[in-house]
Amino acid sequence: MRALVTGGAGFIGANFVLSTVASRPDVDITVLDKLTYAANPSTLDSVADRIEIVEGDIADADLVDRLVAQTDIVIHFAAESHNDNSLADPSAFVQTNLVGTYTLLEAVRRHRTRLHHISTDEVYGDLALDDPSRFTETTPYNPSSPYSSTKAGSDLLVRAWVRSFGIHATLSNCSNNYGPYQHVEKFIPRQITNVLTGARPRLYGTGTNVRDWIHVDDHNDAVWTIIDTGVVGETYLIGADGETDNRTVVETILEILGKPTDAYDLVTDRPGHDMRYAIDSTRLRTELGWSPRYTDFRAGLEATVDWYRENENWWRPVKDGVERGYARTEKIVG
Ligand code: NAD
Ligand code: DAU
Repeated sequence: MRALVTGGAGFIGANFVLSTVASRPDVDITVLDKLTYAANPSTLDSVADRIEIVEGDIADADLVDRLVAQTDIVIHFAAESHNDNSLADPSAFVQTNLVGTYTLLEAVRRHRTRLHHISTDEVYGDLALDDPSRFTETTPYNPSSPYSSTKAGSDLLVRAWVRSFGIHATLSNCSNNYGPYQHVEKFIPRQITNVLTGARPRLYGTGTNVRDWIHVDDHNDAVWTIIDTGVVGETYLIGADGETDNRTVVETILEILGKPTDAYDLVTDRPGHDMRYAIDSTRLRTELGWSPRYTDFRAGLEATVDWYRENENWWRPVKDGVERGYARTEKIVG
């Protein structure tokens, strides 16, 4: 099988490439990645002689057409992925997440190529803390931020191309991922690397917001399950029952690193901050037989803390720039 992995130098895409090279020697991988600030091509160093890496934009129609013509399946991870950046400047989000996905769709339509589209639970908006329900495949779309609205738009494009043009696509919407090789702009790596560099963790608002954490390897394992056995045209929600509030995550990181659990700062809240995400992944579990392997969130966090401790070379070069960016808008409030 020849697979074109878009965004394969980013967090989830690179973990997907690494685990696929290790477990599926029959898959020939080409990575298409623009190598934005979010990419770290060194993540792929250990498999560089086993894959092809093309630096390019998913919105470049000629390049995409050439690559899609030579592949059996496109696994589409590429996106602008950070909510805070989308609030500062949404333009790249519209271009990559909407125009880029449209460009891929037209290419897979022309070449009748299978597509798996990676998306997020944020397309469903948020839930109240006391709401007993969770997101399912039939929850109405109600995105809050420029990031999540462009991801929602990209999902709707994929669904329309399935219905109108009969393209062979599946979709998945996953909850918050954690694990190795995640950019230090994101919540968990930011807090771990703050403590490792002698700074204090930063909690938005009061830290009561809830995210439904899943290990990146469980997400990618579910993606292969859907590619192998999912029904074309269908959507599957991916989640591992990992609901945890942000304050608890920060306190656990501090405890793992041997610091007082109250050694963090409360800072200005994210505008429009979604309160809670929660995934009901019953369909994926019962219809396709998938289940997560990382069911102990604390153990997964400990392994992730160890990874950042042991791989400072990977994240150190970008850490100060990320913190300077946050410092432009962030104020300590408690
Ligand atoms: P990331 O920001 O770490 O990586 C994105 C990658 O896409 C980078 O390598 C970047 O260079 C590349 N890219 C960006 N614009 C591009 C373009 N125009 N052309 C080609 N490549 C481009 O993101 P991530 O966290 O790995 O997320 C990957 C996918 O998974 C995204 O579609 C995201 O919406 C989705 N997702 C993420 C999470 C999460 O918790 N991180 C959860 C659910 C779904
Ligand atoms: O739910 C899936 C989504 O999860 C993905 O689609 C996105 O690509 C991914 O970035 C993530 O979005 P979030 O906005 O939930 O992730 P982030 O890591 O930015 O923040 C997680 C929570 O932590 C959120 O409630 C905001 C809060 N936060 C974040 C940062 C960076 C803090 O309290 N302090 C921080 O410094």
